[in-house]
Amino acid sequence: MRIVALLSSAVLALTSLTAASQTPASTKAPAKAPQAPQQMVAQTPPMGWNSWNFFDEKVTDKDIRAAADQLVATGMKDAGYVYVNIDDTWEGQRDADGVLHSNDKFPDMKALADYVHSKGLKIGIYSSPGPKTCARFEGSLDHEAQDAQLYAQWGIDYLKYDLCSFIPGVMQKQAPNDKAAQMRLMAAAYAKMNKALKATGRPIVFSLCQYGWDAVWEWAPSVGGNLWRTTGDITPDWDRIYTIASQQAGLGNYAGSGHWNDPDMLEVGNGNLSLAENRSHFSLWAMLAAPLLAGNDLPNMKPEIKDILTNRDVIDIDQDKLGKQGTRVYSEGEVDVWKRRLAGGAVAIAIINAGDNRYSTHPFHLSLAQLGLHGPQSGKDLWTGKRITLKEGQPLELARHDVLLVRIDAPR
Ligand code: GLA
Repeated sequence: MRIVALLSSAVLALTSLTAASQTPASTKAPAKAPQAPQQMVAQTPPMGWNSWNFFDEKVTDKDIRAAADQLVATGMKDAGYVYVNIDDTWEGQRDADGVLHSNDKFPDMKALADYVHSKGLKIGIYSSPGPKTCARFEGSLDHEAQDAQLYAQWGIDYLKYDLCSFIPGVMQKQAPNDKAAQMRLMAAAYAKMNKALKATGRPIVFSLCQYGWDAVWEWAPSVGGNLWRTTGDITPDWDRIYTIASQQAGLGNYAGSGHWNDPDMLEVGNGNLSLAENRSHFSLWAMLAAPLLAGNDLPNMKPEIKDILTNRDVIDIDQDKLGKQGTRVYSEGEVDVWKRRLAGGAVAIAIINAGDNRYSTHPFHLSLAQLGLHGPQSGKDLWTGKRITLKEGQPLELARHDVLLVRIDAPR
């Protein structure tokens, strides 16, 4: 919401932009980039937890410690969730030397990082290339190298870098009537922080958050992005989740080991999402090879939500070593059919009923042929755990907003 207000004028202006905007030479990775250990992060989509979707601006040191405790206690850590990410509102003031301090909600960031690390987890933090963050706390503008060094001293493993005030504060100010120049300033800001992070020598996942502007997937890897948001913010309601998922169709070729499309953090367990909606959301994110950053209240997580977030079969789809993002192969009205190629020749198929207007009188009939499959396919239904055989033309009845997610190890 906040970002909508902050960016409204900029968004209007940007609609005239074309894909012709190019990444400036200055933002490209240097030809002989040092082989920093950072090259090795995010080999599969990052997994963990982030404070924003549930705690919003109220997050404290205590919440972060509790989240770390719960990742361990619930088995989520064992299932692969390792990053504990502090989002916006941890920032305090800069001292006379320009060194940023955390605010009262986070009395000792180094001690917090040590605590999270002591659990065998990693810790993430948040900033903006602008003067202020989205919640109007201190940003990193003109302090990039200093902030990156600070993060490294604290032991930070992940940075989400959120455009926000860089738009009015720098882009619109420096290039008021030149959208292409604004986009070059934006890319250069990300390149600058990437350089600062690399200079620390610490492996730090670099997460770009600029809402998908200027086809970020085309240039994010060249500015060191390990993941990049492809859309505006997610909210815990089906229409928003489904819209975001639909907007990922066609972006698959841009994702791969070390660099991923990010359709935003998970809302599983938040708001009033039904169990079917939570399952579909999680299934879609797995099909999309999306980062799996849970965003719910871990100390009060219901068992059925934990079961969704820790479904190993679904996580295996997300984390598949081939690193090929799935595609929406076809739709029939409100039913979408997605396919993802997996390592070893396996495939995953997700059939989503995005609506609620289809009844047994006229069920959806599956077309295996459109999926490039021939004859009956034996697989595993990843939500019931049972074997299933999919047949050409078979009628499928899916409840409102529910999903059938099947892994086929030997497709024909
Ligand atoms: C933006 C981002 C969100 C969150 C908030 C924090 O809206 O897109 O994910 O980080 O800022 O202020």
